[in-house]
Amino acid sequence: PLCDIGFIGLGVMGKNLVLNLADNGYKVAAFDLDKDKVDAVLAAEASERAEGIEQRVFGCSEMNELVTRVKKPHLFILSVPAGEAVDRVCSALLAAGVGAEDVIIDTGNSLWTDTVRREASYRGQFVFFSTAVSGGEVGARFGPSLMPSGDKKAWAMIEPVLEAISAKVDANSGLPLERTQPGQVITEGEPCATYIGPAGAGHYVKMVHNGIEYADMQLICEAYHLLRDALGMTAKEIGEIFQTWDKGVLNSYLMEISAEVLLQDDPETGAPLVEMILDKAGQKGTGLWTAVSSLEQGTPAPTITQAVFARALSTLKSERVAAAEVLQGPKSEPVSEAEKQAFIESLHDALYCSKICAYAQGFALMASASDEHDWGLDFAAIAKIWRAGCIIRAVFLQSITQAYQAKPKLANLLLDPFFQQQVEQKQMNWRRTVAKATLMGIPCPAFSSAISYFDSYRTAVLPANLLQGQRDFFGAHTFERTDKPSGEKFHLNWSSPARDLTQV
Ligand code: 6PG
Repeated sequence: PLCDIGFIGLGVMGKNLVLNLADNGYKVAAFDLDKDKVDAVLAAEASERAEGIEQRVFGCSEMNELVTRVKKPHLFILSVPAGEAVDRVCSALLAAGVGAEDVIIDTGNSLWTDTVRREASYRGQFVFFSTAVSGGEVGARFGPSLMPSGDKKAWAMIEPVLEAISAKVDANSGLPLERTQPGQVITEGEPCATYIGPAGAGHYVKMVHNGIEYADMQLICEAYHLLRDALGMTAKEIGEIFQTWDKGVLNSYLMEISAEVLLQDDPETGAPLVEMILDKAGQKGTGLWTAVSSLEQGTPAPTITQAVFARALSTLKSERVAAAEVLQGPKSEPVSEAEKQAFIESLHDALYCSKICAYAQGFALMASASDEHDWGLDFAAIAKIWRAGCIIRAVFLQSITQAYQAKPKLANLLLDPFFQQQVEQKQMNWRRTVAKATLMGIPCPAFSSAISYFDSYRTAVLPANLLQGQRDFFGAHTFERTDKPSGEKFHLNWSSPARDLTQV
């Protein structure tokens, strides 16, 4: 039969997206250069298919065949590695007869500027559309969070497909509606897919999602580090604390899986698995892109950036091991038995406040990019589609949704009355945690960058006045005055004995 969708790239994410599409009633023609992958998706669909349900996934061995098996106008979905592979597949589809009415959707973690370039360069040949996907393999299979962007006219054709396969949230509670079984379909609830904006906007938003993901992960790791090294707790004990935290304001997918990782024993040795995992973090680039964008935009995202640095520093394993022999830290005062409970409670609040700052930075960054590129991003809608399906899904995204619903142009999440009050209430615990960690010489770069962000943001007079003085001194870079209208520039003639002031 003629299929609804042509799918290219059947790696873990691609295969699961195909099965998800099939669950939702779409007929999919599936292609991969690796024939084994085509066979694997066909076998998976056949084994999962319930009695009485017709075959919905059909394998193709060539690009030309794929194009003839999909109804017109063609809709193709790509799940290939970000980068050149996307352009290669687009060229191959063009050669196979794809035309101006057809739509190609890139689902990879593409760099947003590549998406902008592609949309412009393919315009007129076919419609290049993108949807960033979050949620890992399980999300792809049973409902990811989707961040689509591109041509608004094409969105009408794409919308029902993406809404169908996305995660769903209960409209009243804001909690995910779980889908766990092949064949299961959820039609009620709010879909975690919404049109984000013109080409590039969706991938930018996904990039920032990943930046926040990096920060969130690093913050949890720092909490683990402190419980381990300041309190001497075992992986199991820490896993149990995280499970308790996962029941409250810190409830999130990342908290849940961190507890699971900590509670897992190594099948080889029986020791906690986490203690057998080498402490060198990998990365594929999206956190780095967020940090670079933050620097380029001049919109600070220090906690996200510190999370990228923390991964980089972790990879200097042999240097760290050598330095540990030479560089002495403080003679640390241990946390006494009597202080233990209070320390854990403080740490909980430190994690919560730092997390609020990481999200505040991510949203501020998206706001500045939206202004610069005229994307008209809707932050309540973005928070909404992150409530389920994606890696940073967390109960507190409901509060972020409400914050932006109440004030779409909120300058910073920290200014929302709910978050303002949360941080105010918990800040002393946050400060105590960072102070104690510093006194003990246990690194907490993300916690401390978050508190510096909060303190800098709420400081009316920063020492940048001296900085402007320094710049004017050695480079005649001029300064503005507190008693003169903004934009008027002054220079002090530092090298002349008279030290006269001139307006420039
Ligand atoms: C998601 C994840 C996903 C992925 C990234 C990050 O939202 O589903 O962010 O896109 O795990 O590739 O990976 P790194 O940690 O390797 O950069």
